[in-house]
Amino acid sequence: MSKLQELENNKRRKLSSAADQEHSQPWVEKYRPRKLDDVAAQDHAVTVLKKTLQSANLPHMLFYGPPGTGKTSTILALTKELFGPSLVKSRVLELNASDERGISIVREKVKNFARLTVSKPSNEDLENYPCPPYKIIILDEADSMTADAQSALRRTMETYSGVTRFCLICNYITRIIDPLASRCSKFRFKSLDASNALSRLSYVADQESVTYEEGSLEKILDISAGDLRKAITLLQSASKLSNYNDNNKITPGQLEELAGIVPTPILKEIVEKVASKDVNSIVQYVSDFCKDGWSGASVINQLHEHYITNDMFDTNFKNQVSMILFDTDSKLTNGTNERIQLLNALIKISQV
Ligand SMILES: Nc1ncnc2c1ncn2[C@@H]1O[C@H](COP(=O)(O)OP(=O)(O)O)[C@@H](O)[C@H]1O
Ligand SMILES: [Mg+2]
Repeated sequence: MSKLQELENNKRRKLSSAADQEHSQPWVEKYRPRKLDDVAAQDHAVTVLKKTLQSANLPHMLFYGPPGTGKTSTILALTKELFGPSLVKSRVLELNASDERGISIVREKVKNFARLTVSKPSNEDLENYPCPPYKIIILDEADSMTADAQSALRRTMETYSGVTRFCLICNYITRIIDPLASRCSKFRFKSLDASNALSRLSYVADQESVTYEEGSLEKILDISAGDLRKAITLLQSASKLSNYNDNNKITPGQLEELAGIVPTPILKEIVEKVASKDVNSIVQYVSDFCKDGWSGASVINQLHEHYITNDMFDTNFKNQVSMILFDTDSKLTNGTNERIQLLNALIKISQV
């Protein structure tokens, strides 16, 4: 093979592997907001952060809120806008839950990074980005850190606050010890409401030329309940599956199947069985239902939704049903037998 040919082949190989990568990238990463302006629905947090961007004077920060609402994306976008793509590597340390984060890590890794002097930005970076003279340490999913590790962090935070800012991210603010929380500006991230989530989801669907039957996107949002990561992941899995459909369109039924939730017609049958108050037929139905491999935990959730949002039932009935379902849910979480628990719950409800 001539040298030229070889070079040509190499080039082709590189190109095709780049294309593969593009193709196989999870859509949640591909459509992660790159700039603060791309973050949807978190107007309050974004406005305040943009102000701090102008003054380039950042406090320690604590982001909290449910999963898939843009917390990680927001801080990553913020650091990029602060430092620019090249400086960001030496100025930002990101640790997340998959890293060990006991007290030793706080003592070593975090402290070592915190006390480093800041690297000098190039002139080009200085022209285009604020490049403030400090580093940022992101502790993602900080609520999974032990209380000891959090205490150790308190000292580090204080000692090196001249050259380092912290951003703690968590789902539950109550799991962050008070002395840490009180040192941070707090930003609450809300669950995305239906219209914001829908517009982001349909944007992704358009970009990827996904076709779907009416009601599919709404179904996805129903299932993912404000968690955009879950929604986009579900869209991607469904789009792969829909290639096998006749018209290549995603259907709401397929989405239910993918998400492992019980389809509406079956849920309706269960509710009818319960209303009939016929114990024998409930026993038979539950036994068949479990043999079909449906998940008990999911059906408990859906039954809750069904009974609580239905105006046909009075408050007293809803109260009692909630108690029964709550009890069953906690028992299932402890790993008890699904069939027995489900049967127990349905018979109890039928006798309310
Ligand atoms: N507010 C938002 N605006 C735009 N996209 C979002 C938003 N929230 C979540 N996403 C999407 O969901 C994915 C996960 O978001 P992420 O920031 O990691 O959520 P969190 O850290 O709050 O769990 C992102 O890659 C993005 O595609
Ligand atoms: Mg996150």
